[in-house]
Amino acid sequence: MLVGVCLTVVAGAALASVSSPARAASCPWLNTSKSPAERAREVVRAMTLDDKIAMVHQPDPIWTHYGVAGYIPPNPRLCIPDLMLNDAGQGVGDQEINTTAYPSAIAQASSWDRSLQRAFGRALGFEAWHKGVNVQLAPDINIARFPMNGRNSEAFGEDPYFMGQTAVAEIQGIQENPVIATVKHYALNNHEVNRMTVSSDVDERTLREIYTPAFEASVRHGHAGSVMCSYNRIHSIYACENRAMLTGILKKRLRFDGFVMSDWGGTHSTIKAAKAGLDMEMGVAPGRYFGSALKSAVQSGAVPVSRLNDMVLRILRPMFRLGIFEHPHAPEPQAYSANVETPDHIALARKVSEEGTVLLKNRGGVLPIQGTGKRIAVIGDAGGPHGTALSYNTGGSAHIPEAGTKADVVNPFQGIQQRGTADTDVVTYTDGSSMADAAAAATAADVAVVFANDAESEGNDRPDLHLSNAQNCTLVGCSKLPQNQDQLIETVAQANPNTVVVLDTGGPMLMPWLAKVKGVLQAWFPGQEDGNAIAALLFGDVNPSGKLPQTFPKSMADLPVKTKSQYPGVNDKNGIPHAVYSEKLRVGYRWYDAMRIRPLFPFGFGLSYTTFAIRHLSLKPAGHNATGATVRFDVANTGHRAGAEVPQVYVGFPASTGEPPKQLKAYARVFLAPGKSRSVALSLNRRSFAHWSLAAHGWRVSPGCYRVMVGNSSRAIARQAVIAVGAHCANARTHIPAGRARVSHQQGEDRR
Ligand code: BGC
Repeated sequence: MLVGVCLTVVAGAALASVSSPARAASCPWLNTSKSPAERAREVVRAMTLDDKIAMVHQPDPIWTHYGVAGYIPPNPRLCIPDLMLNDAGQGVGDQEINTTAYPSAIAQASSWDRSLQRAFGRALGFEAWHKGVNVQLAPDINIARFPMNGRNSEAFGEDPYFMGQTAVAEIQGIQENPVIATVKHYALNNHEVNRMTVSSDVDERTLREIYTPAFEASVRHGHAGSVMCSYNRIHSIYACENRAMLTGILKKRLRFDGFVMSDWGGTHSTIKAAKAGLDMEMGVAPGRYFGSALKSAVQSGAVPVSRLNDMVLRILRPMFRLGIFEHPHAPEPQAYSANVETPDHIALARKVSEEGTVLLKNRGGVLPIQGTGKRIAVIGDAGGPHGTALSYNTGGSAHIPEAGTKADVVNPFQGIQQRGTADTDVVTYTDGSSMADAAAAATAADVAVVFANDAESEGNDRPDLHLSNAQNCTLVGCSKLPQNQDQLIETVAQANPNTVVVLDTGGPMLMPWLAKVKGVLQAWFPGQEDGNAIAALLFGDVNPSGKLPQTFPKSMADLPVKTKSQYPGVNDKNGIPHAVYSEKLRVGYRWYDAMRIRPLFPFGFGLSYTTFAIRHLSLKPAGHNATGATVRFDVANTGHRAGAEVPQVYVGFPASTGEPPKQLKAYARVFLAPGKSRSVALSLNRRSFAHWSLAAHGWRVSPGCYRVMVGNSSRAIARQAVIAVGAHCANARTHIPAGRARVSHQQGEDRR
């Protein structure tokens, strides 16, 4: 339990205040024996119109509070604590100091480790609360539709099921503290160019199969207290005033009972947004649309008071559910100066980076670096003896301001030197600004390790960030490393046959030099423990186990998104850019499979210093009359080192459903000593076999023959078997029923 002390610490300070008899008498909803919904209703009944309006917009400019992004004031008369809203998914950021810089979300995801992700969420919530924050603006769960998205590093990759699993773990961890998690950005916020104006135009089936499932998992299984609607439009209507999306899908179909806040400045109207289902305006103080304008709209009857009551109820319910009344956040300004970067959190940041770094290539066993007296040339963005490396972190709202400047940050050069010295290795550093110096350093070494990086920030897509070397880029030709780093790698590889590249990039890069280097590690933006983590991996103290949550293309011409109409969109007659999601379901590996294109590195791929085998697949029906199955197989460590493997279960649907060739439906992370093997059982449920039916506007299971595949990447299937779902299949050994033909909307759409 890394942060198990949290609630104890909190409770001591807070209980004294809530237990005062006078407060309890005037605020009967402080009685914790009632349900959160009941307590919320009681508060709303006691509120004036002004009390309610005060809860749905930000009154003061944010710089009047400490380090955060948003603020809802307390209501002392009604004993309602304030809400402090802060970014985001790599740590507690905005202007906060003394917090831990964890690895970026895409690195977290690469561990495929739900319990580690939950521990991270728990630590994030702990740090937030102690910094005076009780609404954390994370996780970001926008699907990686293509690698040039400027926020690629902030989310968990390209697969909807995997995105949902990772998000649920993080949300549950955050909300173990009296802190509300916020899933964002709802929805279809998949690139940054024109993000404030673009209309994302997608068909219903693609929306429900690719872009909403992670939100569904987050609210239904993670019980996220809050959802942030996005800047973009959806079919011409702003996401934050889109009734079909907010009320129709999110609140009714997915049964979200928390509140929807707008992205900062993402509210565009009063009556339309309120009636569409927006519950809180954020970003403009005093609230431009949900302040006095909303008050007038309620007074005139243009917005029913019942809608305003519902907004406030939705905000209060998670506040009660997560104990925010009993445990109001640590007070500012003391919280602002508090140091929450505990030794446990630093160790956690290191573990996430170690597990989230992906070994992409290891020819001839160039890694791990072994033996004593090795000469190691560290080249490029590794920080050097005194400096800091550039790539701990993303830019924009998720940026952790101090990550690169903290005294205790160990950069990669320092990490390698410290680890190497123990083995009497000689480590040199060359920053890579001179090709000649880099070549000379590489020539004099046994192993050359080149660190290359890129930069990412919201507001820009990656081509914008690379303009220095990207003049020749076509629209989608820009996923090259900036500032001649490709050339640096080529030069070093020519000088030393044992060249290893470490990529500190927010997303997939092209690797024109791949054939010339022996090793590649994808470390993403690794956070403040970068140096220690990468040294442990390079020297084999830790065996790499990360797997890609996103496909790496061989060429930008292979991407599913290629036309201007798909990205960044074409203006309509009113000047609104429309990005048409015409690739439909074929996102990420679904596209590469359907088009039979070999990627550079497939989704789910990652090497280890040991080897594994997956054997003995068997399928068992889930039980009487249930559409589901247990998938059982053995995983064996067939090499000489301990390590973790991630077996992945994919389902191939019958062709008649029109689904892409395979979809991830289950996975596990299995740690094994050398020579050991373990039997793994994973469950498939009704939803694993369901597709979105346009006729029924719901999830349906089509009778037919489904293939169940197990492998250690989307392109390395070790075993497969056919399962007959409500049908006869000649080659099937397992039969399960197709289940109910119809599920009514009232019952909820993903009942199993
Ligand atoms: C971003 C959000 C962020 C908000 C508050 C916006 O620019 O899109 O992700 O939470 O700012 O900082």
